[in-house]
Amino acid sequence: MYYTIKWEGDSVSMLDQRLLPAEETYHSYANYRHVAEAITDMVIRGAPAIGIAAAMGIALGAKSLDTDNMDSFRESMNAIFDLFSATRPTAVNLFWTINRMKKIVASGTDVTALKEQLEKDALAILEEDITVNKTMGKNGARFINDGDTVMTHCNAGALATGGYGTALGVIRAAIEEGKKIKVFACETRPYLQGARLTTWELLKDGIDVTLITDNMAGHFMKKGLIQKIVVGADRIAANGDTANKIGTYSHSVLAKEHNIPFYIAAPVSTLDPDTATGEDIVIEERSIDEVAYIQGVQIAPEGVSIKNPAFDVTPAANITAIITEKGVIENPKEKGIMELFR
Ligand code: MRU
Repeated sequence: MYYTIKWEGDSVSMLDQRLLPAEETYHSYANYRHVAEAITDMVIRGAPAIGIAAAMGIALGAKSLDTDNMDSFRESMNAIFDLFSATRPTAVNLFWTINRMKKIVASGTDVTALKEQLEKDALAILEEDITVNKTMGKNGARFINDGDTVMTHCNAGALATGGYGTALGVIRAAIEEGKKIKVFACETRPYLQGARLTTWELLKDGIDVTLITDNMAGHFMKKGLIQKIVVGADRIAANGDTANKIGTYSHSVLAKEHNIPFYIAAPVSTLDPDTATGEDIVIEERSIDEVAYIQGVQIAPEGVSIKNPAFDVTPAANITAIITEKGVIENPKEKGIMELFR
């Protein structure tokens, strides 16, 4: 059985998602700087998985510090926090993890105890994530009917989390309830998380999955072949606007046109009450090579101008409900997300 990320005591092991589906290769990182690089390079990706990787990287960094002095430990930890903060900007789970670990460091008085506490917390973040996804799955399964074909975008599955998945967790939970579900996975240009990762993990579970290119979605919606859409999220603003993988917004507009319910499944750690609206969410711009090349083959002329925003924002008005482990926010345009923080 594969795993996304594992703590190995003195190192962190990750499945290299850049190589899937061709190769199932794991890397072991003993140096926290390499864990940070692995996040930036997308060896591991997906909002909750990025948060877990950062937690483990920070714990590893703390362990590597050769000091008993609290002041110099705190100073070095601040540099480690800064390193991880700069890996990827959009998924708020990363900053949620970093803030959680900053609080631990701020509350401690003994270096050895703090190192142990950070390691314990990193493991807890992984375990909690799996539990949260299963609860979220149960909360969302009621929206999926027996016989539905559910479309998803990008990969919001076991590979993007500690396990089970957010959007794919909802689908898994519906199937566990005995419902017969088909999945349409959008390929997700340019990085192909849908084609490479979502299909890979659903096939492994024996779930009925059909791969479509992103621009086929409207066609299948119009033909009545898609009953529900469930996607994950990287950051949900206070008013319910949701950043997720580029292409999500277009699907939401098409869903509205065709009266297809459009659900976001995300843990509370993806909700960002400090960001007022989607306008305030920083959208990561990635290398133009991700667009100019597909799997090493150049598909655009040299020198052409290219853009590559990795995420877009779906307005709350296009979202039927936000499914979390703490409950479901139906019609987020009316309510925003703050009810889950009261
Ligand atoms: O660039 P990625 O692959 O990290 O983007 C991933 C997504 O956009 C996912 O949909 C999101 O993080 C939710 S994962 C449970």
